[in-house]
Amino acid sequence: MRRRRRRVAIGALIVVLLAALVLLVPRVILSTAAVDAAPAGPGVVVGGVYERAPVAQELPVPQLAVVAAAALCDEPAVQAALAARDDEAVVEAAGGGESFRAAVIAGAAPCISLSDPARRWVVVDKLRPLSPLDYEPANLGSLSQVTSLNGGHLRQDADAALSALGAGAAAAGVGDVAVLSSYRSYRTQVSTYAQHVDDEGQAVADAGSARPGYSEHQTGLALDMVACGRGCGGLDDFGATAQGQWVAQHAWEYGFIVRYEDGYMGVTGYESEPWHLRFIGPALAKAYHDGGFHTLEDFFGLPPAPDYAG
Ligand code: DAL
Ligand code: ZN
Repeated sequence: MRRRRRRVAIGALIVVLLAALVLLVPRVILSTAAVDAAPAGPGVVVGGVYERAPVAQELPVPQLAVVAAAALCDEPAVQAALAARDDEAVVEAAGGGESFRAAVIAGAAPCISLSDPARRWVVVDKLRPLSPLDYEPANLGSLSQVTSLNGGHLRQDADAALSALGAGAAAAGVGDVAVLSSYRSYRTQVSTYAQHVDDEGQAVADAGSARPGYSEHQTGLALDMVACGRGCGGLDDFGATAQGQWVAQHAWEYGFIVRYEDGYMGVTGYESEPWHLRFIGPALAKAYHDGGFHTLEDFFGLPPAPDYAG
């Protein structure tokens, strides 16, 4: 009788173990597949499907980052940094730029809005107008160290980073830089864009000038840079100058990206602008650089924005 009871108990144990195996194995496979499917590098969205493109430097699959991402908005350090409007601290609290990116792409960071025009991670393109359309940044200031050829303004955090970039260029021996255009209000962009349309026609204007409410310049986080020697050159010259080439390689070290690179008009909607720098902060810029990204749309897994919706 006792032996029979023992046999029943062993049988029950085996059934429980088998049931556990049947339940757990597909979950493990599914969760691994989900991690594998998470876009880890640049790519494009075609028909709503994200297609990975080859990356210059393959990153380790951000398994831990994806796990952490699910709880990103519950992290007290993230919540505190968001409340303090300390964007750099938010990204650091998320585990760095790559973890932050992975969380956003995985849809696991509902507290992070890529549409908030006051955040360093805002994405503005032809499908993502500023909201409100006539948004004005709160913390603009004059440029403190780098010469502004038009007396322009930038957000103060972007200006501090620009000062460091200017000093870095000088220290590297490539020469001086200056800023031709920085913050542009909605009203300024109305006249800037209209001037381009008058001069070049609408199709050409749309390849190089944002419509009012669609320009990164309106966030106070973007600027157009020129190289200076005895005098200062123009925008079109910048890419070929020592300063332009240094900026293309090193801007990320100061939290900037070259927003409109050659060959990516199908994603950004604009022809190459080696002079247009966009401040996204050092942590995100490092992830952008290390991941071999060329557009902010790919970086955040957003659809290409070659044209306006309407
Ligand atoms: N030139 C860029 C696209 C702008 O107008 O914002
Ligand atoms: Zn610009």
